[in-house]
Amino acid sequence: MNNEGRTRLNRLPEWAALGKHREQLGETRLRDLFAADAERGTGYALRVGDLYLDYSKHLVTDETLTLLRELAAVTGVAELRDAMFRGEKINITEDRAVLHTALRAPRGAVIDVDGENVVPGVHAVLDQMGAFSDKVRAGEWTGHTGKPIKNIVNIGIGGSDLGPAMAYEVLRSYTQRDLTFRFVSNVDGADLHEAVRDLDPAETLFIVASKTFTTIETITNATSARNWLLTGLRADQDAVAKHFVALSTNAEKVEEFGIDTANMFEFWDWVGGRYSYDSAIGLSLMIAIGPERFREMLDGFHLVDEHFRTAPPEENAPLLLGLLGVWYGAFFDAQSHAVLPYSHYLSKFTAYLQQLDMESNGKSVDREGNRVDWQTGPVVWGTPGTNGQHAYYQLIHQGTKVIPADFIGFARPVDDLLPGLVAQHDLLMANFFAQTQALAFGKTPDEVREEGVPEELVPHKTFQGNHPTTTILADALTPSVLGQLIALYEHKVFVQGAVWNIDSFDQWGVELGKVLAKRIEPVLTEGEGGEHLDSSTAGLVSAYRTLRGR
Ligand code: F6P
Repeated sequence: MNNEGRTRLNRLPEWAALGKHREQLGETRLRDLFAADAERGTGYALRVGDLYLDYSKHLVTDETLTLLRELAAVTGVAELRDAMFRGEKINITEDRAVLHTALRAPRGAVIDVDGENVVPGVHAVLDQMGAFSDKVRAGEWTGHTGKPIKNIVNIGIGGSDLGPAMAYEVLRSYTQRDLTFRFVSNVDGADLHEAVRDLDPAETLFIVASKTFTTIETITNATSARNWLLTGLRADQDAVAKHFVALSTNAEKVEEFGIDTANMFEFWDWVGGRYSYDSAIGLSLMIAIGPERFREMLDGFHLVDEHFRTAPPEENAPLLLGLLGVWYGAFFDAQSHAVLPYSHYLSKFTAYLQQLDMESNGKSVDREGNRVDWQTGPVVWGTPGTNGQHAYYQLIHQGTKVIPADFIGFARPVDDLLPGLVAQHDLLMANFFAQTQALAFGKTPDEVREEGVPEELVPHKTFQGNHPTTTILADALTPSVLGQLIALYEHKVFVQGAVWNIDSFDQWGVELGKVLAKRIEPVLTEGEGGEHLDSSTAGLVSAYRTLRGR
């Protein structure tokens, strides 16, 4: 899309109108907004698929929402969205289409990239993954010595790790429990060591997941894993074929590594790493939950894709969530965004979203290369809710920072929970509802006094409230619901990138560190080539070498 001539975001009249509106809102309290509208709780809510989304506890009025939607209209969010779905090359700095939505398109769909319909290829790979997964799950994929595979170790990093690792955890109750799954990402040898130390190589399958197949952490770990395997089996290179498969876009590099391309599951350059776990990158997950459940998850993604593509702005959930983030970043100086799931199974969910959001929207130049002078992506953070309540919630309740937060909870516990533990679910969910209530409405000094609190403690026990939250409630944590949630966040991130006029699909910021690490490594090992280091790094390197006895 050509954006030349686009008026800078903060010079738009729609932006100015929002600024003026923010001033008019002044110190308006959520208590006042709820008092003025008895239906607010249900009126400011949306249903998307299985997700019930309550946004009533946000510092917004009907006018705010109208102004935000006007901003979305004038910044071309819908046009960019349509261009994405059509397969146009909206990732301008890499000249690539952005088509993770094609990964969950139904079999008969037609989506062209450079004149070729990509959907049949997507389903061919899904079928290939399905056949392979079924074999492993049935114990029919045997290793070099003839023993069935029982352990699956995914080696990847970033998008080639966080997605499958997160989703495996989320859908644990759907997994085939007699298989063991491990996820190795860190180039710190301790990661691979802990993952394989109790495994029998004869029963272990390594899935090397790397879009580029050049990522140094992954290739290093995969090489070490191959050495561990061949040493453990006392076998030669021939054993690799039964114990290594690759997920990649780069057949040449896969072959160079020594993995037969017959054991490669392909994806494409129009799938960004952080948008890839519903591609071949999800193979470990598919082995864990089975092809059918995997497809249910894809259907969940697709449902929200269609919602985002077709729902009118007033009912469009990703649009709304994206705009709320723009509102707080620009007009409340919110620097961060907390994601607080009330499900133990979502323990890695926020870490996954960190890459999705921060690698996408952590940008400071616009699509034309000019520095932006408005806030872009927030710091995303959080852990499962009840644990957070006893750690950092204090700061959200009574600190000085504006921290919009998402609360995610489920009506039913997972199906296979021990019967004695089911009753705990209501307590979990009571906390879930209580927290957003406390954050929104707080406790006034008078309410504190009514409890007989001594005057000098009243300020300490007062809660200002007015902390904005979104509540997302679903019936149960199913594969489809997981797909729906991830697509919701993917498109929310998209909306924000479109409004901020940044390229949400590149990640040049991670390159410099990689280049410097390559230069520093020989200085650590050989002590050579450090002449150009700055004095701080040179001092640290020298201290390191001394400690290592070099
Ligand atoms: O360095 C960042 C990054 O490129 C991510 O965007 C990506 O998900 C990760 O590295 C891993 O890349 P690959 O799948 O090519 O190994």
